[in-house]
Amino acid sequence: MKIFQHVSDLGDLKLALEEAKAVKADRYQYQNLGNNKTCMLIFFNNSLRTRLSTQKAAMNLGMNVIVLDVNQGAWKLETERGVIMDGDKSEHLLEAIPVMGCYCDIIGVRSFARFENRQDDYEEKILNQFIKYSGKPVFFMESATVHPLQAFADLITIEEYKRTERPKVVLTWAPHPKALPQAVPNSFAQWMHAADVDFVITHPEGYELDPKFAGGCRVEYDQKKAFEGAQFIYAKNWSCPGVTRPEDYGKVLSKDMSWTVDSEHMSWTDNAFFMHCLPVRRNMIVSDDVIEAPTSIVIPEAANREISAQVVLKRMLESLN
Ligand code: CP
Repeated sequence: MKIFQHVSDLGDLKLALEEAKAVKADRYQYQNLGNNKTCMLIFFNNSLRTRLSTQKAAMNLGMNVIVLDVNQGAWKLETERGVIMDGDKSEHLLEAIPVMGCYCDIIGVRSFARFENRQDDYEEKILNQFIKYSGKPVFFMESATVHPLQAFADLITIEEYKRTERPKVVLTWAPHPKALPQAVPNSFAQWMHAADVDFVITHPEGYELDPKFAGGCRVEYDQKKAFEGAQFIYAKNWSCPGVTRPEDYGKVLSKDMSWTVDSEHMSWTDNAFFMHCLPVRRNMIVSDDVIEAPTSIVIPEAANREISAQVVLKRMLESLN
């Protein structure tokens, strides 16, 4: 595997899930695979889970790990070609990326949506430069539009907790005070559509996800109807994807607290498990009692981030050897 961005990069999803199960059963069985290999993790944005779980996964495989927080200690980077660099940015991404590629075998990059220009975000301007100029396999640690390591971990978790062969899984929008990217819901929709689940998305009007990721997915605007019979509730806020009105891209169109997932919402479901990628704003996205209930699986979900990262790194290492 040279790029990890979309669900299709994993090939057969059932095989990938079996591989994840095997890795989880003995996560040190491939500890020589990464000998003398270096994994570089580049963060343009903050992280807790991605940073820690990916480092742990790389260490389980015997790799060396270098972590760079671009905004803390590195030169300030220019990302646009053609700019006269007479401002505060000392280095261009076009030199920085191949230099980073010199010091490692595999690169993971986190670079969120900037909300300045929808086309730039949805064309993955930053990540595509890493693919083009680093000369190394690149995996996405949450880009402008996708968060595949999270969606893979989410699917692993659903596989572990499902009570029926084809459970009903609901992705619900929930309110948040600030504009958040669409990367998590985009990937979750893409992965659930590819998986063997009964998948429904619910959100207020105007929050339709880009068909590139959610095309073919069922949308139910009535949150209560969507929740009926659900075995998994996956809550997440996202800002306006700008599908129907591009001028609204990145805007907060609603802070409607009736969408906050509380115990009344969960009573509409089939005793559903509650999921969220974290970090989560309590009593905006989800009430205290729901996230603290025995049916909340946000911690095992986060734990599976180590497993999803390890499967991806293992496959990338195998493609090097
Ligand atoms: N879920 C997730 O990616 O968490 P972090 O932003 O803390 O890495």
